[in-house]
Amino acid sequence: PETGCLSIIVLGASGDLAKKKTFPALFNLYRQGFLQSNEVHIFGYARTKISDDELRNRIRGYLIQGTSSEHSEDVSKFLQLIKYVSGSYDTEEGFRLLDKEIFEHERSRNSIEGSSRRLFYLALPPSVYPSVCKMIKNCCMNKSDLGGWTRIVVEKPFGKDLGSAEKLSNQIGELFDEPQIYRIDHYLGKELVQNLLVLRFANRFFLPLWNRDNIDNVQIVFREDFGTEGRGGYFDEYGIIRDIIQNHLLQVLCLVAMEKPGSLKPERIRDEKVKVLQSVMPIKDEEVVLGQYEGYTNDPTVPDNSNTPTFATMILRIHNERWEGVPFIFKAGKALNSRKAEIRVQFKDVPGDIFKCQKQGRNEFVIRLQPPEAIYMKLTVKQPGLEMSTVQSELDLSYRQRYQGVTIPEAYERLILDTIRGDQQHFVRRDELKAAWEIFTPLLHRIDNGEFKPKKYKPGSRGPVEADELLEKAGYFYLVYLQGFSIKHS
Ligand code: BG6
Repeated sequence: PETGCLSIIVLGASGDLAKKKTFPALFNLYRQGFLQSNEVHIFGYARTKISDDELRNRIRGYLIQGTSSEHSEDVSKFLQLIKYVSGSYDTEEGFRLLDKEIFEHERSRNSIEGSSRRLFYLALPPSVYPSVCKMIKNCCMNKSDLGGWTRIVVEKPFGKDLGSAEKLSNQIGELFDEPQIYRIDHYLGKELVQNLLVLRFANRFFLPLWNRDNIDNVQIVFREDFGTEGRGGYFDEYGIIRDIIQNHLLQVLCLVAMEKPGSLKPERIRDEKVKVLQSVMPIKDEEVVLGQYEGYTNDPTVPDNSNTPTFATMILRIHNERWEGVPFIFKAGKALNSRKAEIRVQFKDVPGDIFKCQKQGRNEFVIRLQPPEAIYMKLTVKQPGLEMSTVQSELDLSYRQRYQGVTIPEAYERLILDTIRGDQQHFVRRDELKAAWEIFTPLLHRIDNGEFKPKKYKPGSRGPVEADELLEKAGYFYLVYLQGFSIKHS
C-alpha cells in the first residue's frame, strides 16, 4: 500500500451528508487504525465562515452516536486532525487558500517521505461539481515530484437523465481521468452486496442453477417505512426511480445477473456489469406500476400537483442466453409497511413433482441486505413426526447469530478506504452510468411529462394493489397463511 502524507478534503463540510456519513466513516477508519495520525490530515471546506472548533463541535455529536464512552478520547484526537477552510465553490481564492493549507501540512509531515495523496470528497449537490472540479484542477492538485495522487469522490444524483448525466460526465472527464474519479453508490459497500460475487462464483451449488432453466423470477426489493422526511424538495425533483432504482437496485441486479468475470480485477468485474446493462430490453409501460403515498404533497417543499413517484414496481428483461424470459422485478417504495432490502430468487416448480398435492411453495434463495443481514434458502422438508407430510422450512444464515460480536462495517467506511487504496471495483464506471441511464430515460421522460401517473397508496401499506397484481402476472408465486390453511397464488 502507498504511504506518505494523506490529505482528505471534505467539501461541503457542514452539510448533511458530511456530518451524517462522511465524518463518522472517517472517524471509524481512524479508530480502527486505517488512518494514521502521523500521515493523515482532514480538511473541511464550505462557504460558511466558522472556526475549526465550531466545525468540530458540529461534527462531534455524530461521532459519539453509536460509540461507547471508551472512545471519547479517540473522538477528541480525531477532531484535532480536522482543519476548516471557508471559501466559495466557484472562485479560486478559497481553493488557493485550501491548497496552501494542504501544502503546509504536507511540508510538516514530509521530512521523511515526499509523496502527497489528496482525496477530495465532494459532499455537495451535483450542480456545483463542474465548478468545484475545475477549481481543484486549477489550484489544488498534487504537486509533489515524489509521487502520490489526486482523486475525487462524487455521489449521485449524477444527472437526471441520459443527456444531463453525459454532460456532467464530459465536464468532469475533461478535468480528471477515469482512474481519478470515484462515483459512490453506497449499496456497493454493503456487506451482503459485496458477498454476491463470492456466493455466486465460489459455490458449486449455484453454478448450474443460476439461469433461465431453473430460475423463474428474481425480485430486488427496497422498502422504507418512512416518507421523504424533510427531504421533499430534493426528492420531488428526482423520485424513487432516480433515487433508488436507477442506481442502488440496478447495481445489485448487475451483480446477480452478470457472467463470471475473467478475474477479480476491478476492470474485469465492471466490464461484466456493463454487458448486463447493455442487454436490458426497453421497459414496457404495462410492466410498470407507479405510486405516490397519500400526504406526500403536504410537505411544503413539494408542489400540490406533483407527479413524482414515491413507489415503483417494474419488470426488467435481460436479453441474453442466461436470462431470456426471466423477469427481474424491481420494487422500491417510501412510506410502506416495513423497512427492508432484499434479493429474492425464486426457482421453478419441480418437474414431475410427486409431492405436488401437499407442496407448500417454491424454492427460494433470499439475500437480505438489511435489516438485519441474512441469507436463507426456502425449501420443502418432511414435517417432523409420524405423518408423512411436507412443510416449507429454511436453511438460515442469519448474520447476527452466526457472526456474533462481529461488527459489520458501514458502507461508507469500506468505500472510503477503497478510494484511499485505489480500488475502483465498488464504484460506478462512466460507461456503466451511461448504460444505466439509457435503460430508464425513456420512462422517466414520460413520467416527467405527466404521461404516466402514479397511483395513490396509503402510508404504511404495501403500496398500490396493482403492484402485487403485476408481480403475480410476472409469475411470482406466494403463499398466504390463513388460520393454518395455506392458499396458493400463482
Ligand atoms: C439514499 C437515498 O441513496 O439511500 C435515500 O437517497 C434512501 O432516499 C437511502 O433513504 C437508503 O439507504 P440505506 O443504506 O438506508 O438503505
